[in-house]
Amino acid sequence: MESCKPKLGQARSLLFVCLGNICRSPAAEGVMQKLIDQRGLAERVRVDSAGTSSYHIGEPADRRMRAAAASRGYDLTSRARMIHRADFAKFDLIIAMDHANLRELLSYKESQAGCVRLLSDFLEPHWLREVPDPYFGGEQGFFEVLDMLEAACPAILTALDGQ
Ligand code: 4NP
Repeated sequence: MESCKPKLGQARSLLFVCLGNICRSPAAEGVMQKLIDQRGLAERVRVDSAGTSSYHIGEPADRRMRAAAASRGYDLTSRARMIHRADFAKFDLIIAMDHANLRELLSYKESQAGCVRLLSDFLEPHWLREVPDPYFGGEQGFFEVLDMLEAACPAILTALDGQ
């Protein structure tokens, strides 16, 4: 994490990225936002999400993802957008949900200046290495996504903010 060291005294910013920005990354944003609020860090840490594709730009999070998240107390309010080059300079940490997302992010030359990681870098080794894409599967997949996000977000926040 050497290149990811935040600048002391400045607000931190974090971007979660998946393919469509309607399932995994908006859920990650919602789980992290709640954690930030619970820890009283809203002034210090900002979180956002984006997709590597343009498929769903402008759409709210997938209805099934919103329902699964709501059942655990998360309100997903984001609208899908696509990653853009300026994001690499804007965010302290950019977290990809799977290897395809990570490869796509690293294909931007601007990514060399930023700090890009895989979500599972913040999980114990018994977890899957990728957050599985729930879009074409059943309801259970959305809860498995939330399980992984809830396990990873405290470690991500600690890495980002040291709290
Ligand atoms: P996400 O899920 O990347 O977690 O938002 C997907 C959403 C839509 C599609 C694929 C994955 N799609 O092919 O439209």
